[in-house]
Amino acid sequence: MKTIFSGIQPTGVITLGNYIGAIKQFIELQNEYQCYFCIVDQHAITVPQDKQELRKAIRSLAAFYLAVGIDPNKATIFIQSEVPAHAQAGWIMQCISYIGELERMTQFKDKSKTQREGVSSGLLTYPPLMAADILLYKTDVVPVGDDQKQHLELTRDLAERFNKRYGELLTIPEVRMPKAGSKIMALQEPTKKMSKSDPNKKSTITLLDDPSVIEKKIKSAVTDTDGVVKYDKENKPGISNLMEIHSIFSGLSFTEIENAFKDKGYGDFKADVARVVLNELVPIQNRYYELLNSSELDDILDEGARKANIAANKTLKKIENAIGLGRKRK
Ligand code: AQP
Repeated sequence: MKTIFSGIQPTGVITLGNYIGAIKQFIELQNEYQCYFCIVDQHAITVPQDKQELRKAIRSLAAFYLAVGIDPNKATIFIQSEVPAHAQAGWIMQCISYIGELERMTQFKDKSKTQREGVSSGLLTYPPLMAADILLYKTDVVPVGDDQKQHLELTRDLAERFNKRYGELLTIPEVRMPKAGSKIMALQEPTKKMSKSDPNKKSTITLLDDPSVIEKKIKSAVTDTDGVVKYDKENKPGISNLMEIHSIFSGLSFTEIENAFKDKGYGDFKADVARVVLNELVPIQNRYYELLNSSELDDILDEGARKANIAANKTLKKIENAIGLGRKRK
């Protein structure tokens, strides 16, 4: 059976972008692959985090993984910092990365620009840690949104470089992007991707927003003035983004949506986008609140950490032996 690894940072409540771009794919994949779904809390601290908020976000993300339909009997759900092999292998990946290639990562360039308190070296070395996350599980496929494609390419480069230097040991992972919705855009700035940490809360739909708030945010999403519901990403980014969201949840094609709203205005269209989004999110929210403070959640995370530690340590030992670190171990 092939293996999947994917991680999400606990940097705030997950957004509709994270859900569509990453998590929604996980549910289909858990039946066909051996899956590891990780809460990558060590990545979150590459930018300053409030301790209480971080703890809350870690638990919240774990509850979301389950609430959306990931089955802990099929997939391993765990927290990155509870599996020390990630940091250990991350260091090794840093040592085979070049500063130049890390400085070229667009996410580093974007995030380092907005840091007011100085840029941490962790922000630069985040991609080698991400490579370690993936490579430790001999991952075949990584389901991610568009923004992570460049980091995935670097992971592949690092794995190939490692194999060339130390022998064929690491599996070269493939990227898997959703057919639609690999980049959901910010509602207020539809040329920029929707992000958890966007300070403009009107731009982002989080999975915990009240239904009335979601309706309001969709209603006030930036569109254009020509009043025609038509998919045209370049000239109508706002409407196209809403059409993408609609299509993913309603199952209708862009042409079917265009026909359904041919003689109607943006108001009617936006109301229908809100309807299909709420149809999907309200049941998830109900399950989320049931799980959040349950001991079941802790049991699942304990078991996830146990399984992930076994798998990750096995690969780490092989990596260390291949390099010549420490004493030879079986
Ligand atoms: N707007 C998006 N559309 C589609 N997919 C998205 N992803 C993120 N934003 C969108 C995908 O969600 C997964 C988890 O991402 P992450 O939390 O590890 O980091 P990120 O990509 O940096 O996500 P955010 O929301 O933008 O977080 P912050 O604000 O903390 O940087 C990834 O698979 C990503 O592709």
